Amino acid sequence: MKEKIEKYLEEIATFRADSVDTLEQFRIKFLSKKGLIPELFEGMKTVAAENRKDFGALLNEVKNAAQNKVNELKELIDSSSTSQQVFADATLPVDFLTIGSRHPISLVKNEIISIFSKIGFVVAEGPEIEDDWHNFSALNFPPDHPARDMQDTFFIEKNPDIALRTHTSSVQIRVMESQKPPIRALFPGRVFRNEAISARAHCIFHQVEGLYVDKNVSFADLKQTLLYFAREMFSPETKIRLRPSYFPFTEPSAEMDISCNICGGKGCNICKYSGWVEILGCGMVDPSVLKNCGIDPEVYSGFAFGMGIERTTLLKYNINDIRLYFENDIRFLRQFTSAY
Ligand code: PHE
Repeated sequence: MKEKIEKYLEEIATFRADSVDTLEQFRIKFLSKKGLIPELFEGMKTVAAENRKDFGALLNEVKNAAQNKVNELKELIDSSSTSQQVFADATLPVDFLTIGSRHPISLVKNEIISIFSKIGFVVAEGPEIEDDWHNFSALNFPPDHPARDMQDTFFIEKNPDIALRTHTSSVQIRVMESQKPPIRALFPGRVFRNEAISARAHCIFHQVEGLYVDKNVSFADLKQTLLYFAREMFSPETKIRLRPSYFPFTEPSAEMDISCNICGGKGCNICKYSGWVEILGCGMVDPSVLKNCGIDPEVYSGFAFGMGIERTTLLKYNINDIRLYFENDIRFLRQFTSAY
């Protein structure tokens, strides 16, 4: 008897049906009045009293298995037949698909690329896991130089030569090592710094870097290029100002501010009531960086600039918390559906 029950259990478990008829046959075979399961219950009479409890439990198990199987398959067959009806009748109402939107970081990245591509810049990319040479040494950060502390680096535990890139300037080196001037290129990408996450900082963010190397490239070219960018990106009335700064790989170096487009220069908490907001770092490529990449600084000169995309997006869309970019909150993302 026990063997019989096990055989039934096995048969029930492996049974499949895709039509109402086969399912009905299955139901009749096991569960109808004269079916196999009621027959087993009949057999209870012959079981010795002390075994009856165990046997009863086993019988309930087969009965439930068969009943569950019938319910489950019935539901499956019903739902597939409604979907068949939907396909058959094109006038039935449908569920509308909601259209997704691009992430604001992608929107702004694409816009930066499109603005610079109009003046001949092409996109290049480099690896996010970098070696010391491309992220630091070739960019004039000597070993143990305090300038390395400007960027809190994530190193790979077993190899201090390998790190997550702290800026896209590493791609300057890769491009200058592999291409001859004239070079007019743009490097968008993710960068990583060991910083505590807050409304204003994140350990992962995005930059776009620009590099122009040719004969006779001057600081005036840099300034004009950036003015063009600021006006295209924000508004034709946007003003820029350059403040002297320091980066190991540019000389001279500057930071660029734009007139605050959130308050129009009147003063707000984004520009800290100064009317100006910082947007990027830039400068003339240091001659020793050109030399490190096999480019003769006596013949060529160049400029470079780098900006954070999160910050540019903040200024464009007035987003006051950097964490919003990473949380994938649909209420935030949905606001960009019609942006482009
Ligand atoms: N790499 C610099 C930073 O991350 C920005 C920069 C790029 C400055 C190119 C000058 C030239 O802060």
